[in-house]
Amino acid sequence: MPEKTFKRHTITSALPYANGPIHIGHLAGVYVPADIYVRYLRSKKEDVAFICGSDEHGVPITIRAKKENVTPQEIADKYNQMIKESFEKFGISFDIYSRTTSKTHYKTASDFFTKLYNNKVFREILSEQYYDEEARTFLADRYIKGTCPKCGYQEAYGDQCENCGSTLSPSELINPNSMLSGSKPVLKETKHWYLPLDEYEDWLRKWILEDHKEWKSNVYGQCRSWIDQGLQPRAVTRDLDWGVPVPLEEAEGKVLYVWFDAPIGYISATIDWANENGKDWKDYWQSEDTRLVHFIGKDNIVFHCIIFPTMLKTHGEFIVPDNVPANEFLNLEGNKISTSRNWAVWLHEFLDEMPGKEDVLRYTLTSNAPETKDNDFTWKDFQAKNNNELVAILGNFINRAVVLTHKYFDGKIPERGDLLEIDEKLIAQLKETPVNVSNSLDKFKFREALSHFIDLARTGNKYLADNEPWKLIKTDEKRVGTILNLSLQVAANLSSLSEIFLPFTAKKISHILNFNNATWSSIGDHELLSESHKIEQPELLFAKIEDDVIEAQVQKLLDTRKLNEKDTKKESINMSPAKELCTFDEFMKMDMRIVEILEAEKVEKSNKLLKLKVDTGLDQRTVVSGIAKYFSPEEVVGKKVTMLVNLAPRKIMGIESQGMILLAEDPDGKLVFITPEESLTNGSTIS
Ligand code: MF3
Ligand code: ZN
Repeated sequence: MPEKTFKRHTITSALPYANGPIHIGHLAGVYVPADIYVRYLRSKKEDVAFICGSDEHGVPITIRAKKENVTPQEIADKYNQMIKESFEKFGISFDIYSRTTSKTHYKTASDFFTKLYNNKVFREILSEQYYDEEARTFLADRYIKGTCPKCGYQEAYGDQCENCGSTLSPSELINPNSMLSGSKPVLKETKHWYLPLDEYEDWLRKWILEDHKEWKSNVYGQCRSWIDQGLQPRAVTRDLDWGVPVPLEEAEGKVLYVWFDAPIGYISATIDWANENGKDWKDYWQSEDTRLVHFIGKDNIVFHCIIFPTMLKTHGEFIVPDNVPANEFLNLEGNKISTSRNWAVWLHEFLDEMPGKEDVLRYTLTSNAPETKDNDFTWKDFQAKNNNELVAILGNFINRAVVLTHKYFDGKIPERGDLLEIDEKLIAQLKETPVNVSNSLDKFKFREALSHFIDLARTGNKYLADNEPWKLIKTDEKRVGTILNLSLQVAANLSSLSEIFLPFTAKKISHILNFNNATWSSIGDHELLSESHKIEQPELLFAKIEDDVIEAQVQKLLDTRKLNEKDTKKESINMSPAKELCTFDEFMKMDMRIVEILEAEKVEKSNKLLKLKVDTGLDQRTVVSGIAKYFSPEEVVGKKVTMLVNLAPRKIMGIESQGMILLAEDPDGKLVFITPEESLTNGSTIS
């Protein structure tokens, strides 16, 4: 099939929920890649609309509002403002940042539903749902609490037990009660409108699995698994009083399901943007020569690849996405980012605590983007990327070229003489860079694209080091002129490419070079700056980040972790019911003995593990134990402790551990050894 050419691009990035601030995971997974992609398209002078806004409906917002005793709208207002500001400060260049509580959105979403209704797309289904007779309202799953049928935890929600992690439905809860009134809810019949995804399975299968084999493998794979499992009709309405009202007389008190209205938010936002900018929104959504691309995180795949496209298709007037380059998740220092546990780097805090380092974060998140698998953000890596790449390569190169030009040529671009092989090589690499960058970006390989960019700076740096103009200046000023001329041409290209990856840096370099950054068709050119063009004085592009700054951030996280550990320990001790019964025989299978710790050392690359040598009375062996945070190697040597000696050997960090040291743990997470009251011979048995 010949590649389709498009006249314009509608690029959307997932609408963040306005029920909390956003963190680096959001930025890395969705907004930075989307922004890079859009900046690239703009540099190519493509016609593009970059759309985003807040997702302001849904049950979590109503719960938060209740807790804080304000209206859902107030919650949405607060976080919409906060999120919008964070995006602006990071240079995420949306054409519009709208919200799903706008007038336009209510009308657009409502009309969309009506069109599908008139097209007879929906199936109307009666079902029984919990109803609170005191509060006179149906209850969202999250508003029902009860005892978990799987683990006995008494505070499980209607959709999930947070103790054992099981997914539940409200009817499975034992002793359900309403969180609104505390009363016992009753089952009551209610009618909802369902999108019959099952009827579109064949279409989806062909459209995605046959016609879009080029989609990222993580996205394609998830779609295939959804389709292969068989699709079910999905309710697109809810009994709730926060959302877009269902535009049917018989649907009083019902609203559109948040996942029905939110993606329509892309369309509403485009309508507002188009009206404000003299454009026709329909060009961006209903024209076959428009390329629609959704940037999202992996938890959004089914909605953007299956449900929303089915909505667009059944409406009849819309195009469907050409690509959905979803990313995986970013972890933080080895753990899943979690809002409820405050395990996150919040953008508004980063902006406060690390002013001027927006591009450093953009750079780090891009070079570490979770493109094909989950990835980890660490502060150490952030520091290393800044110090070893941005400072040592990019900043250093630009600075040297500019300083030397001031020193030897009065800040004027020197003339270029005959070119040597080394110059030709530089020019060739310069020319290749935009080709490489664009090959990577066209495939949504942002990390690879960024590495081509920094490689150009690396080449420039090496070019200066190899040519040593500071030595040559004594003997061959003309040659030095050529070297600096070419170096500055590379600098001007880096400046122009920075527009895509590092917008704040792009402004700075362009100011230093006194040059308007080039657009895509000129990038790669080695004559961007003309001879005798005057440049400005150098200014600092990136500053080294010292250890104490990084340590402070790590400490902040460690403090959070301590708080969390305390909480969970308390919860698990108070809440987790006793383990299942075990038989006498089962117990007798365990061979527990008093052993003596003979030697102890830290396990390399782990802050949790100690490698111990113990005397079990039977033999001497190695055990790896997760106690390094609580005990130093010195303080455990000589201790007599309890060990399970017949635990099957396991490899831990490459070391075979032959047994397990037993420890007792109190609700605050404090660990202690289990030691005999009186000294006993090594190998004494326990039963
Ligand atoms: N608010 C959702 C989330 O954060 C994303 C909504 S994307 C949209 O996961 F398409 F529905 F708008
Ligand atoms: Zn449970």
